Amino acid sequence: MAGNKTFTMIKPDAVEMNNIGPILAMINNAGYKVEALKYMKLTKEQAGLFYAVHKERPFFGELTEYMSGGPIVAAILVKENAVADYRKLIGATDPSKAEDGTIRKIFAKSIAANAVHGSDSDENAEIESNFFFSQLERF
Ligand code: CMP
Repeated sequence: MAGNKTFTMIKPDAVEMNNIGPILAMINNAGYKVEALKYMKLTKEQAGLFYAVHKERPFFGELTEYMSGGPIVAAILVKENAVADYRKLIGATDPSKAEDGTIRKIFAKSIAANAVHGSDSDENAEIESNFFFSQLERF
C-alpha cells in the first residue's frame, strides 16, 4: 500500500524568485497538509549527504554547489498516495519536459534549478524526512 507522506524542498532558485508562497499554496490546494516545515541553508557537505545517491553522476558537483548556494524550504507533506501524487504535481525533472500546470513548468528555470525536490519512493520519503526533521518538529 502506498504511504501517505512525502518530503519536499523548495530550491534556492524558487526562494530567490519569491515563489515560496505560491508553491506552498499549490501544495495546499492539491490536498497536502504540512507535517513539518523549515527555512534553512545547507552547507555543500550537507547537500552532498542528502544527494549521496547521485555521487557518481557528472552533475553532482553542480548540484551540491547549487543546493548550498542559497536558502531552501524543507517540508514533510501528508496526503493519501503522497509520493506519486506529488511527483505528478511537480512534473518532470527537466522543466522543459514538465506538463502544463505543474510546479516545475510554472516556476523552474532549468534541470539544475528546477524549483522543487520530491521524494521518489516511500522509503526515500522517510530517509529524507529524517535527514531534516526530528520527532519534536513534526505536528
Ligand atoms: P531532484 O528531484 O532534486 O533530484 C536530483 C536532482 O539532480 C534533480 O532534481 C535535478 O535538480 C538534478 N539533476 C538531475 N539531472 C541533472 C543534470 N543532467 N544536470 C544538472 N542537474 C541535474
